[in-house]
Amino acid sequence: MRFSALFRPYWRQLMLGLLALITTNLFALILPRLVNMGISVIEGKKVPYFTSITSIVLAILALAVLAAIARTYSRILMFGVGREIERDVRRDVFVHLSTLSPSFYEKRSVGDLMSHMTSDINNIRMCTGFAVLNILNIVIVFAGTAPVLFSIDHQVAFAALLPFPLVMITAQALSGRMFQRVREYQASLSDLSARIQENLSGAQVVRVFHQEEAENTRFAAVNDHAFRAAIRLAKMRVVMFPLMRMMGALGVAVTLFVGGRAVVLGHIDLGDYVEINARLLQLAWPAISLGFVMSVYSRGQASLARMNVLLEARPEIVGGALPAPKQVVRDSADQFFVVAHNLSVQLPQSAKPILYGVSFTVKPGEVLGVVGPTGAGKSTLTRALCREVNVARGQLLIDGQDICDWQLHALRKFVAVAPSEAFLFSASMRSNITFARPDASQDEVMEVVRMVDLTRDVDGFADGLETMIGERGVTLSGGQRQRVALARAILARPKMLILDDCLSAVDAQTQSTIVERLKQPVGDGTHTPPAMIIVSHRLSVVQEANEIVVLDKGQIVERGTHLELLTKGALYRALWGLQLLEEELG
Ligand SMILES: Nc1ncnc2c1ncn2[C@@H]1O[C@H](COP(=O)(O)OP(=O)(O)O)[C@@H](O)[C@H]1O
Ligand SMILES: [Mg+2]
Repeated sequence: MRFSALFRPYWRQLMLGLLALITTNLFALILPRLVNMGISVIEGKKVPYFTSITSIVLAILALAVLAAIARTYSRILMFGVGREIERDVRRDVFVHLSTLSPSFYEKRSVGDLMSHMTSDINNIRMCTGFAVLNILNIVIVFAGTAPVLFSIDHQVAFAALLPFPLVMITAQALSGRMFQRVREYQASLSDLSARIQENLSGAQVVRVFHQEEAENTRFAAVNDHAFRAAIRLAKMRVVMFPLMRMMGALGVAVTLFVGGRAVVLGHIDLGDYVEINARLLQLAWPAISLGFVMSVYSRGQASLARMNVLLEARPEIVGGALPAPKQVVRDSADQFFVVAHNLSVQLPQSAKPILYGVSFTVKPGEVLGVVGPTGAGKSTLTRALCREVNVARGQLLIDGQDICDWQLHALRKFVAVAPSEAFLFSASMRSNITFARPDASQDEVMEVVRMVDLTRDVDGFADGLETMIGERGVTLSGGQRQRVALARAILARPKMLILDDCLSAVDAQTQSTIVERLKQPVGDGTHTPPAMIIVSHRLSVVQEANEIVVLDKGQIVERGTHLELLTKGALYRALWGLQLLEEELG
């Protein structure tokens, strides 16, 4: 995102704003001359256009009103451009973030991203609106005033303008360091917002483990860091502004000295002297504000640089060109095979492959059971199937088509995963369930609610399906959350449904009932149920699966049906024994 490119869509509005800015400055430029004329009239001299002091006063009033109107328009137009750019940047960054892969989010904290979306975007607006307007204004005021001053008297003009280049050079020299300090400050704000966000989200954990004090100490460190960065920045500002003001006062003194002499010597008259002073006054504020304007400008540039780092992040996982599954899967959508062929998964942060040599086949109406100890790679397998992690070509095929060739959204429409720890939005139960298909009918929603055994829970809520859940509503139990997430996945009508231990918090009996329902033909009974992969730590749930694979340390160590595994699978038998024991104890 380049600075100039941000303005491209709004160049007309910007030009109009510039026109208004030039207009208001033209009006303002005439005012000191009218004052000059007024003094001449008082001195009894003849002036062009005006005969009385009253007419000059009226002219001054009229000009002041016109200048105010033009000034207002210049601000409406140019600050408006800043607002438009703010909206554009926010939209573009938001859209960009939605394209990035999980690996990006693993490296960035939510708080840091939030600070990009709020304070950095604010800074960009201030830079593209306020700073740009004021920089242009300063240029116009000086370009307009300097020649007029010189036309009155070279010497006085030269002396009066002498301090201004100094002011500008100082402002320029300081702005580089300012930029650096602003960046430090912004980075510290990001850290701060990351810590605040984590502590708010994890407030309960902090409380339960009574780590308030430790967390307060850690927060104090980050807070202090932000404070020191703010002070370093403020130090530059507090030096900069008085310096500018001092130089302004210097100008007034020099003018009095040189200009006063010129009046005494009769080079200029008193009116001219007053006019010169009035013009210097007009220059003073733009010159003084230059420091502030430059700091707003560098803050915006620093924020834009931070934003560009986000925008330069490329998604690691990119889809292919194959369109929607219904075209991929030939005439009968119920006939396809999901094939894993020697699947290996290596993640950037892990030294050795998480999965290797995994092969299996599933088709519609069938269930592949996946069991194994924690950390075996079961969830990684489910993430590979929807390309949440990258897989090499030729290792995962659906209907003979490499999943790397599928458009990502086509693949994700095809495959739905219900994870064990699902994120639910702070919204109604209904909108959570219909997240993937907001157009689902009431009957369809009730049907999935029944399938996941939530009917009684929903009836128990005062507002039924409209009950708000999450941060601003009812807190669901672990089992309820899991079932809402499963309902969401089922309602998406995937051709392939993956349950990643997504009923671990539901009792064994209910879990088996739900899985049985999932295997039934859907709709009017003519559609084959989806191909299913059920990952479960409860072996009883996958007992009926067409095939069960036992994963251990990323590899399939045993495979077969439940009965086959009971006779020949050592690990499976051990796990089964453990489970029987648990059930007896439970
Ligand atoms: N994003 C990741 N980066 C690096 N290693 C990971 C990542 N996700 C999971 N792992 C590692 O991969 C292994 C398998 O994890 P996972 O698939 O979640 O196991 P399971 O679901 O069988 O318990 C674990 O050792 C885990 O630490
Ligand atoms: Mg897991």
